[in-house]
Amino acid sequence: MTTVLDSSFVLRPRVASACSCLVTPTSTPSGGPYLNQLMKSQGKLWFGTAADIPGTDETTDPAYLTILTDPKNFGEMTPANTMKFMFTEPEQGVFNYTGSDYFLDLAEKSGDLVRCHNLIWLSQLSPWVTEGNWTAETLTAVMENHIKTLITHWSDRCYSWDVINEALAGNGSFSSSIWYDTIGPDYFHLAYQFATEAVEATGKDIKLYYNDYGIESPGEKTTATYALIKDLQSRNIRIDGVGLESHFEVGGTPSTADQLEAMQGYIALGVDVVQTELDIRFPTAPYYNETGQAEQAQDYYQSVAACMLVGPHCIGTTVWDFDDYYSWVPSSFPGQGGADIYNDTLQRKPAYYAIAEAIQGLPCTVC
Ligand SMILES: *[C@@H]1O[C@H](CO)[C@@H](O)[C@H](O)[C@H]1NC(C)=O
Ligand SMILES: *[C@@H]1O[C@H](CO)[C@@H](O)[C@H](O)[C@H]1NC(C)=O
Ligand SMILES: *[C@@H]1O[C@H](CO)[C@@H](O)[C@H](O)[C@H]1NC(C)=O
Ligand SMILES: *[C@@H]1O[C@H](CO)[C@@H](O)[C@H](O)[C@H]1NC(C)=O
Ligand SMILES: *[C@@H]1O[C@H](CO)[C@@H](O)[C@H](O)[C@H]1NC(C)=O
Repeated sequence: MTTVLDSSFVLRPRVASACSCLVTPTSTPSGGPYLNQLMKSQGKLWFGTAADIPGTDETTDPAYLTILTDPKNFGEMTPANTMKFMFTEPEQGVFNYTGSDYFLDLAEKSGDLVRCHNLIWLSQLSPWVTEGNWTAETLTAVMENHIKTLITHWSDRCYSWDVINEALAGNGSFSSSIWYDTIGPDYFHLAYQFATEAVEATGKDIKLYYNDYGIESPGEKTTATYALIKDLQSRNIRIDGVGLESHFEVGGTPSTADQLEAMQGYIALGVDVVQTELDIRFPTAPYYNETGQAEQAQDYYQSVAACMLVGPHCIGTTVWDFDDYYSWVPSSFPGQGGADIYNDTLQRKPAYYAIAEAIQGLPCTVC
């Protein structure tokens, strides 16, 4: 497959980089290019990955851990599950930090920043929350205590927090959730107000993010997200960035131009963006023939290229785990798979090398 660049794909001057050599899959399996190293050489904060540790096989898989903990590969780790409400506050007012502390220790030992994920979401809640008989007032108090306790507890061991995750439906209206249905639309700014107060009390620079999918290209949901940011800003409530989840499909990935346009819209409002959960799944098998691999490489290339081209306010890219064996896709989307940049035996796929080329502003040789 030949490389088709979007019309807006203008190579920007490369900052000093140790090696601008063209690297292809002929490199040795564990030799360069290294994605975090390349991102840092271009002034980004990281190339990162989610990891579902502790409590899964990842926790004790030496081959997986060798790749995960090498700072040349990753400079950021996002806990896929362990910081979610049901694990951190299993009973009202009783917090469990054990799993998250394990994750933070591993990330810190690997030299990684951590995007702490997440405080308020409609899913993975404790039964006492979903089954409670709340008024707006009593549930707001639950929200305030959860947000303030966790932000205070881990302080700046968290580079950032996803304060609210996935608040919006596809048409840009608020999704039904215990939070929205009980408190109403005010829950959104109240959550960020509590988070702002907690961060100010720590005296640390902990970034506050909104994280969602379907907001990576222009559309109703993206426009609604712009409005939420402006609303927080008009109330002098802190919002530092937007997490663009970027769960895409092979052949259905937004163009570089569209991703760039959405990012430029957020940045124009004065916030940063991060690609927070990038993966690009095959909607049907087969997952591993040559044509499909090249198409997937192209889709990864055009996504990471948007972050590179938009400038310093796209601060990094994080994949939602890095290998097909541990991917969340097959269990969440039956029949779909092959979404990640390493295959199920931890070998790098063409997509890996396409990302290396996108980071360096080089044409894609594996697309
Ligand atoms: C706290 O979480 C850890 C790790 O997820 C779990 O093993 C432990 O049983 C939990 N502790 C309590 C008291 O629920
Ligand atoms: C829920 O709370 C309301 C108001 O406090 C009360 O009238 C009602 O009986 C409660 N329902 C249940 C099932 O506890
Ligand atoms: C937006 O979508 C949601 C969820 O699909 C739906 O319940 C709601 O009625 C829609 N709102 C409008 C204004 O179309
Ligand atoms: C190769 O894989 C792609 C993506 O799954 C699929 O659309 C295509 O039909 C496959 N080609 C062959 C020859 O199997
Ligand atoms: C994973 O990659 C290795 C090396 O390229 C290859 O031998 C193996 O067949 C791949 N696995 C799959 C499922 O394609």
